[in-house]
Amino acid sequence: MAAVHGPRLMRKRTNTYQIVKHGRLRSRDLWPSLNPRLCFQTRIPFHDDRKMAAHESRLSDRETLVTDRLCLRRARKGDAKVLFKNYTGDLECSRYLQRRPHVSVAETEAMLRKLCDEGWDTPGVPFSWVIAQRTTDEPIGLFLAFPSGHKTDFHFGISKRFWAQGLASEAGRVALGALWRPPETQRIWTVCDVENVGSKRVLEKMGLSFEGTLKRWVVLPAFGTEARDCHVFGATRVQT
Ligand SMILES: CC(C)(COP(=O)(O)OP(=O)(O)OC[C@H]1O[C@@H](n2cnc3c(N)ncnc32)[C@H](O)[C@@H]1OP(=O)(O)O)[C@@H](O)C(=O)NCCC(=O)NCCS
Repeated sequence: MAAVHGPRLMRKRTNTYQIVKHGRLRSRDLWPSLNPRLCFQTRIPFHDDRKMAAHESRLSDRETLVTDRLCLRRARKGDAKVLFKNYTGDLECSRYLQRRPHVSVAETEAMLRKLCDEGWDTPGVPFSWVIAQRTTDEPIGLFLAFPSGHKTDFHFGISKRFWAQGLASEAGRVALGALWRPPETQRIWTVCDVENVGSKRVLEKMGLSFEGTLKRWVVLPAFGTEARDCHVFGATRVQT
């Protein structure tokens, strides 16, 4: 039986929650969003469903995800301009990221093309959800996933205008649920700078466990060329 370290998971059918299939939002997609724990619990397929899940698509993780306040979706025309203003071009939002702030909409556009277009349709390559406000559809952030064999790591961020409202945690929980869907995934993890207090808290709220500190693990352009220490957070699927 599949199990995951950290918060306990209950078996639940995978295809009846938080997913908009073929662009239609079904009422049964919405009810688990009232209870984030339920969303988290739904990420492991029923044993009987495994064959079916593998058969359906290897890209079962790349679906539109809907929460109370957010919609995590593929990029659309016009997203780059707003996202550049809201997030990718913002200096403060990029402080703890491994990239500099984007200098042009074109740079954001190129990133979206790679991650939200090519990546969305190709198994085993990095991809990203655009995090949009559910009511207005305004793109306010990104949740990037980097599958690599049995492991997937991820990064995320949202516009400063929306910080401290629980939105990154809300997006993170539902994205994590989707990332567990491919049966080959056995580990989901990420690192964050030791000083990135907000990110650490979000990772804890997503149910990931603190696994340790990697010394001089990453160079963040905002801090120069000195590599910085990072905390590792992760969760694993184990056979019991
Ligand atoms: C890190 C980040 C995603 C947090 O987003 P957010 O939407 O503000 O996070 P949430 O509102 O879900 O907050 C979750 C918890 O973290 C806390 N928190 C958030 N930012 C914080 C900060 N700067 N300092 C201390 N606590 C913070 C919140 O108070 C909340 O805790 P609580 O539920 O116990 O009250 C956001 O600051 C961001 O996008 N930063 C830029 C990109 C980045 O650094 N990404 C992470 C690297 S992968």
